[in-house]
Parts: sequence; structure tokens; C-alpha cells
Amino acid sequence: MSRSAHPAGPRHADVFPEGHYTAPPADLNVLDPKVWARTVSRDDQGQATVGGLGVTQLAEEFGTPAYFLDETDFRARCRAWAEAFGADADVFYAGKAFLSRAVVRWLTEEGLNLDVCSAGELSTALSAGMPAERIAYHGNNKSEEEIRRAVEAGVGRIVLDSFQEIVRVAHIAQSLGKRQRVQIRVTVGVEAHTHEFIATAHEDQKFGIALAGGQAAEAVRRALSLDGLELIGIHSHIGSQIFDMAGFEVSARRVVQLLAEVRDEHGVELPEIDLGGGLGIAYTSEDDPREPHDIAKALNEIVTRECESAGLRTPRISVEPGRAIVGPTAFTLYEVGTVKPLEGLRTYVSVDGGMSDNIRTALYDAEYSVSLVSRTSDAAPMLVRVVGKHCESGDIVVRDAFLPADIAPGDLVAVPATGAYCRSMASNYNHALRPPVVAVRDGEARVIVRRETEEDLLRLDVG
Ligand code: LLP
Repeated sequence: MSRSAHPAGPRHADVFPEGHYTAPPADLNVLDPKVWARTVSRDDQGQATVGGLGVTQLAEEFGTPAYFLDETDFRARCRAWAEAFGADADVFYAGKAFLSRAVVRWLTEEGLNLDVCSAGELSTALSAGMPAERIAYHGNNKSEEEIRRAVEAGVGRIVLDSFQEIVRVAHIAQSLGKRQRVQIRVTVGVEAHTHEFIATAHEDQKFGIALAGGQAAEAVRRALSLDGLELIGIHSHIGSQIFDMAGFEVSARRVVQLLAEVRDEHGVELPEIDLGGGLGIAYTSEDDPREPHDIAKALNEIVTRECESAGLRTPRISVEPGRAIVGPTAFTLYEVGTVKPLEGLRTYVSVDGGMSDNIRTALYDAEYSVSLVSRTSDAAPMLVRVVGKHCESGDIVVRDAFLPADIAPGDLVAVPATGAYCRSMASNYNHALRPPVVAVRDGEARVIVRRETEEDLLRLDVG
């Protein structure tokens, strides 16, 4: 997530002010397939299309701002992950990235499992027909009510996050006459190369039980001793938006070491390990994400090698990609409102959404790209900051980008790679109405999450 500061070259520094941008792309009209959903391209008139539908027509029909999700791309990515890991592993889509009932049905049809982390996500999953045994339930502070619902529903695993929770889940399962399959989430002590707020494997944070100091081994001891629990494995999630496989390697090695210790102490070989999610995607043309096939190969090799050297049977591996599946499949379509040139600085292009539909720029200093999509333009590149309409100067959607200098009110611009953690983290700040999610496939578009209305807001406000 660290924002790569690319100082503009000397020629550029003369023309554009200080910023975190490279030189403008050779042709602003090109939609780089690296950051755009698979079926996005431009038609003969120059407007962008997705699934064969032009953005102008989509904006007329569904309004702006709106998220457009390429269902073909989503399904293809699910299949790529499932095929890369094969029948001896399990892929759990992390629902926190974006979850809706349509998404649950696509996942179910494509053979993926689902990671949920709240009762709301669980009920969305169950109501759309995801079999409970394909659901993993996460969270560092699950309530007793949430645990009861998960156990009653028969979820395939609950990922235990603390000593207290080990006892809580065991007690609830036993009181319901069940034996709950569980994993223990450990923190492996890796400093993942990502933004502090989304790194989770170092010790000084709220998730998991530390391997260090024998705490995880103690957690295993307790879990194995409780009748209400069937301990199936160890879980580790090191963070999010990570490109470098080194962190996963260390994590896998340390988790396998724990499996060997458990075997030595208890004579039990735990059958599964989960290496979490966190694989990075391209938000700009400079990001170079890995393909699922490469990731699967790398993880399988590490685990197999480590298990061989510890004399263990290779456990069944599971992974939990969220962003890597849904992130690249959607873009946010906005209409340009005010265009405000600030002499010697940059031009502020205001759009009709903002931090309420994409908080990631403000929260993580995330980088995005943006393109004019309702038409092409031969105008010179102009350094812009794309901002929203909220009452806050930090309401920035794209901090530094280039748009054609003739950008004007009424133009449509789109920000690619907003499928993950944008709608799912959207808010009603300033009583903004959260945008719809429109799924597009083979020339057809349908709303899968509708736009909020003022009536929705007023319904919650009971006076
Ligand atoms: N598994 C666990 C246990 C997780 O906590 C997460 C993400 C994932 C899987 C999926 O990670 P992914 O593959 O999507 O990176 N709001 C932040 C990201 C928070 C991630 C939380 N946990 C963002 O917008 O970057």
C-alpha cells in the first residue's frame, strides 16, 4: 500500500508541481487492461463499454455514482483461483471485500467457499444458499449470539482468535450438543509490507494468538482438551494488498513448525492450514500483481518442502482472497461537476461521490487511477486531483492523476479497481446515499445492490 513516490523527472518538474505521479501515460485514452475489468474497452464512438454496454447508457439508466461489476470477470477470477489451487485445497472468498446475494450465488456456482466475519455476512450467505459447511466464521470479538448462530447453522469452521473465545465456542457448541470444527488463528510475527492499518501478522495488534512465547502452542493444548471443539488446523493472515511472497513464506514455515510441535507433543497431525488472503492487485499501471497460478505454486512448494523436512504429511491448504477476486472486477462511474484550476498547483475535478463511496484514499493513502470514459480526447494531459462532494478537504478519490485538459462538467470519469472495500466500506457521511452495484454480463446489466434513497435514511431515523 505504501504510496510509491515517483518524483517527476526534471522536464516534468518544470511543468507540474510536486506529487506522487509518474509522467502522464503516452495516450490518456488507452484503458490499461491491468487495472480495468476484463470486458472493458472503448467502442467506435470512443466511450468505454463493459460487457458490451456503453457507460453513457449505463449512467442514464442507473445514475451516478455507481459501481459496475463485471460478472464475467468475477466468475473467471473465481475459476482461476479454484483451478490454481486444485482439488486438494480450498479457496474461501473473503466476503468483507464485497458481499451480496448475487455474489454468494456466483461463488456457490463456481465452487468457492466463503469467509464471513459478522452475523450480517453470515445471514447474507445463508439467505443466498451458500451451504453452511462451506463457510468459515472469523472475527476477533464474536459475540456469544454470533457464535451460537454460526454453530447452529453448522458452519464448516470457526476461526478462534483468543483464549477466551476457545472456551466460549467450546461451551456454546457443547450446550447445543455439537462438536464445532475450528482453526486457531496465530500471529506469526511477520512485518508485512503494506499499510499499518491492514498489516495483521506483527504481534502488537488485535488479531490472533502469538506463536511467540508458546502462546499458540498453549491455545492448541486447550482446544484439544475441550469436547465441544474439533481442532482441524492453524490459520494465519498476514495482511492485505501484499505483492511480495516472502511474508507468506515465513508465515507458512512458522505455521508448519507449530504443526510439528503439536505432533511431537500430542501425537496429532492437524490436517489443515489456512494462509489467509491479502494478495495485492493493480490499482495503477505501476502495480504488478501475481497470477493465482503463481501464488498457488509458490505456497504449495513452501508448505510441501517444510512438511517434508519436518516429517509431516502435507496438510490441506486453504486461502482467503477477497480483493484479488473482486477488486479488479468493478469500477466506479462518476459525473464530473465543478472543475477548478488552481494556478501553479493542479486542477481539482469534483465528482458526484467521494469518500462515502471510496474511503480508501483518505484512510490508507491508497492510490487509484482515473480515466475520462464518456468520450476520448486529444487535449493535453493535465495534472488533476479528483475529489468528492463531501464537506471535508480530505475527501479525495484520486490524489494525483492526469486527465485531458478539456475535462468539463457533465463528462463521465471512472475509477477502476474499486470492487473491493469500496461499497463494503461505504458510508452515509453527509447523508450521502450509497451507490448501487450493477452487475454487467453479456450485454445485460442488472442492479444487485440498489441505490439508497432518502426514504432509506429517514426510515432509520425514528425521530
Ligand atoms: N482473511 C482474513 C482473516 C482477513 O482478515 C482478510 C482481510 C482477508 C482474508 C482478505 O484479505 P484480502 O485478500 O481482501 O486482502 N479495508 C482494507 C482491507 C482490510 C482487510 C481485512 N481483512 C482495504 O481497503 O485495503
